[in-house]
Amino acid sequence: MSRLFKSKFFTRSLIVVFVLFLLIQVYPYGRDHTNPPVKNEPVWSGPQTRELFSRACGDCHSNQTEWPWYSHVAPASWLIQDHVDNGRAHFNVSEWGREGKNEGEEAAEAVEKGYMPIKNYTWLHSSARLSDEEKKTLIEGLKATFSEEEEGEEREEITPARTPGSGG
Ligand code: HEC
Repeated sequence: MSRLFKSKFFTRSLIVVFVLFLLIQVYPYGRDHTNPPVKNEPVWSGPQTRELFSRACGDCHSNQTEWPWYSHVAPASWLIQDHVDNGRAHFNVSEWGREGKNEGEEAAEAVEKGYMPIKNYTWLHSSARLSDEEKKTLIEGLKATFSEEEEGEEREEITPARTPGSGG
């Protein structure tokens, strides 16, 4: 008896989950997979910096995003859209020289402190998992590419990407 009940319950639950899954596909967010034209790139310190950057950062910080198949499927699509929109808004190497925020000077520190690349991105993108050696090379490269400031000039401390607001 109880086994029968359980299996019916299980089947019904599966149907409910499946119907919900279909329903959320209709929600009109997460499908704006545009790659606007590349307007201007920074002067990279070398081809290796650019290569490492496009491997580990380019999907969210350039207009050359590779949209994987699951970026079309909610709820993954919502998370990915948010990452790319937000990432580009802060720092976009395809719109270098644009007016407003483009936080290249924080890039080296973000890698050094481990905020970037975002952890759940590297779970699915093995090519973005950098070895210690590659990480070191990228950090040096980012410093060389983006540090236009005078030596010794005070730099703003950055906050971890996960911490909302500017409490500290
Ligand atoms: C999966 C998407 C994704 C990847 C990959 C990624 N970032 Fe980000 N990045 C973001 C998002 C989202 C933000 C905005 C964070 C926030 O709201 O504070 C951000 C913010 C930044 C900022 C602005 C300062 C800050 O910390 O908020 C810098 C600099 C940065 N990222 C550098 C990098 C570098 C360098 C890499 C590669 C090593 C990288 N990111 C990889 C999504 C990404």
